[in-house]
Amino acid sequence: MKNILHIISSARGELSYSNKLSTFILERLLQQGNINKITVRDLVKDTPPHANEMSIHEFYKHPGLYDEQSQQLLSYANTIVDEVREADIIVIGTPMFNLGISTPLKAWLDQLIRAGVTYVFDEQWNRVGQFKGKKVYLAVASGGRSAEGAPDYVSAYIKDVFRSYTGITDVETYRIEGTMENGFTADYESILKDFNSTNEVF
Ligand SMILES: Cc1cc2nc3c(=O)[nH]c(=O)nc-3n(C[C@H](O)[C@H](O)[C@H](O)COP(=O)(O)O)c2cc1C
Repeated sequence: MKNILHIISSARGELSYSNKLSTFILERLLQQGNINKITVRDLVKDTPPHANEMSIHEFYKHPGLYDEQSQQLLSYANTIVDEVREADIIVIGTPMFNLGISTPLKAWLDQLIRAGVTYVFDEQWNRVGQFKGKKVYLAVASGGRSAEGAPDYVSAYIKDVFRSYTGITDVETYRIEGTMENGFTADYESILKDFNSTNEVF
């Protein structure tokens, strides 16, 4: 039985295409069965703290030196690390904003990724991700459409950050594009038409 973590990061609630596409992905996963638990982390309703001088100091502290203040400052980070640790599948929705991911999602990642927690160093000082074997589904909504050959910063960034700092290498991206075009209608069925055949996590 698998646990799913659903990350919501568009502020547009019901109007959001990335929220809806990620929910469609969730429904497809549920249809396949074998799901134990779904945890929803809504980064808009419950905004991640931004890293600041004090929290960054705690992030790099040896765990043996943690005190009561550390527990407070690391409380959000520890909660979301536990959620990711517990998840077999992570479904992430994000709008494309200025070619990048949404700011709540970036803040979540900055709280999640931590030396000694999501990755450690081996004897040769290579990073070793601690969350290998999990699957990420990424749902990206953009107002425009990607031109052929244009760099895809959103998916490339998400793939790289998970691979480099968590050991998660299986990131599958679905896109809903052209959402700001006149007369745009969302066709989630066609975006997800190959979903079953490409899903190897079960
Ligand atoms: C501040 C801002 C920046 C945006 N930047 C881009 C962009 O760089 N490229 C693009 O194609 N669309 C851009 N858009 C359009 C959004 O990607 C589009 O509205 C998308 O549907 C938002 O996701 P959502 O529907 O999940 O909220 C931007 C919109 C806003 C408000």
